[in-house]
Amino acid sequence: GAPVEVDIGKLAEGQMMTVEWRGKPVWIINRTKDMLATLPKLDDKVADPKSEVASQQPAYAANPTRSVKENLLVVIGICTHLGCSPSSKFKAGAEEGMTADWLGGFLCPCHGSTFDFAGRVFKAKPAPTNLEIPPHVYLTDTRILIG
Ligand code: FES
Repeated sequence: GAPVEVDIGKLAEGQMMTVEWRGKPVWIINRTKDMLATLPKLDDKVADPKSEVASQQPAYAANPTRSVKENLLVVIGICTHLGCSPSSKFKAGAEEGMTADWLGGFLCPCHGSTFDFAGRVFKAKPAPTNLEIPPHVYLTDTRILIG
């Protein structure tokens, strides 16, 4: 499939957009400081905190935020268990299902896998790996080429 160019100029903090690449949904999330602050607290709760499973991201996204730019997460929105589409859970609080252990991110409705704001899967969940980061480059500050 052809690469897809995306304009993220209007993607406000805390917002997410979805584009299609190779027939798959790709989420782009402009993470807030609060969202990013949850990540280091979860290293002992997620299965692959350091992104060591190389198939799940390009080498340039094998870092603590799993991204090229700290705030911007670009990730394939398909659960690594059996391919359902996880829901975003961005608002703090119990109505989003959040607990002291799960501070928000993505929840797969099919079998309950939870992922943090970097798409890292929590331990003891059916999804075996972190969500996949597709290859991507920034053409400018507001344009991303995916693929
Ligand atoms: Fe997502 Fe099974 S498909 S937890």
